[in-house]
Amino acid sequence: MPTSSPKSAIEAQAEASADLIAQAVSILKAGGLVAMPTETVYGLGADAQNMEALRKLYTVKGRPCSHPVIVHLASLEQLPEWASEIPESAWKLARAFWPGPLTLILPRTSRVPNMVTGGQDTVGLRIPGHPLALELLNAFGGGIAAPSANHFGRISPTTAAHVEADLGNDVDLVLDGGACPVGVESTIVSFNGERPLILRPGMITQAQIAEVLGQDAETRAEQMEKAVIRAPGTLASHYAPVTPLMLVPPAELVVAAEKLLAEQEGAIGVLARTAALPASLDKQRLTWVEGEHSPEGYARGLYAVLRELDGRNLKHILVEELPDTEVWWAVWDRLKRAACRE
Ligand code: TXA
Ligand code: MG
Repeated sequence: MPTSSPKSAIEAQAEASADLIAQAVSILKAGGLVAMPTETVYGLGADAQNMEALRKLYTVKGRPCSHPVIVHLASLEQLPEWASEIPESAWKLARAFWPGPLTLILPRTSRVPNMVTGGQDTVGLRIPGHPLALELLNAFGGGIAAPSANHFGRISPTTAAHVEADLGNDVDLVLDGGACPVGVESTIVSFNGERPLILRPGMITQAQIAEVLGQDAETRAEQMEKAVIRAPGTLASHYAPVTPLMLVPPAELVVAAEKLLAEQEGAIGVLARTAALPASLDKQRLTWVEGEHSPEGYARGLYAVLRELDGRNLKHILVEELPDTEVWWAVWDRLKRAACRE
């Protein structure tokens, strides 16, 4: 029987976390790398003003240095230190959604190193909504540059175990904040042009943004031909499992699975929207996963499911297509990139 009262248990936990935060701060100050939980995915953090640390970050991530990283901040007061011109509409979004799964692309100040921006004159900034990330940012005091804590082009991590599996010894410390509650990367809004432009869809939707701004924000899909902005999240193939992944309309799912099982001897995985496993399919060679029904639940579990399926030595992963409504766009976007083999 535990003898401690719930209060002292909480205090003990807070102390343990304070120790870890102190350790994380010294690592960052010494130019090391700390993986931190955010509400979206785990980030691989480095001091955003330390060139040595940034070089390490790019090397460990395997990311081309022309691709910019997001700088994470603790509070709105820090925003003018990092962004030089902040339109009122950007302030509105920051006030409405931070801390939260939104990144703003703004003209940078001189304190932002070229390595962070990939040589561009803009910087991506966000205040994350995870308590542990905020604790770290507050204790550190500066900006933390953090891409998702996975190798470039692969599936983002949503648990500390995913980070360990991907980057292991290359990270000095992994802060374990549990499973990320949002599950897909932040919505990115650029204020570099006349109208706000959504560069990457996320769980904060175009409609929510328009409501706060009282004006439409264009999406990148709408701007596709015009945009010449470097953003790896917008490359065709990204967030991809190693196993070939195909998107299949609901009505064709069972037939497609039957056909694949008939054509070859290996096993396949299906991420479906229904639990009902059709009797016609060979269960020995099939992993059938039912995705959560709400967009929020589906997003939260998506990367863990893809990682799980990817680890099963399957020949193919079939994913049942999702409804074409705005609430599903963030997960749709990630799945389309995962399916792409360009
Ligand atoms: O939810 C998230 O945003 C997570 C967590 C860790 O905060 N981070 C994340 O970082 O997804 P990363 O590096 O995997 O993706 C950041 C995206 C990239 O597509 C990058 O090109 C874009 O943000 N980005 C960053 N700065 C930019 C800039 N100045 N202009 C255009 N795109 C930028
Ligand atoms: Mg990423």
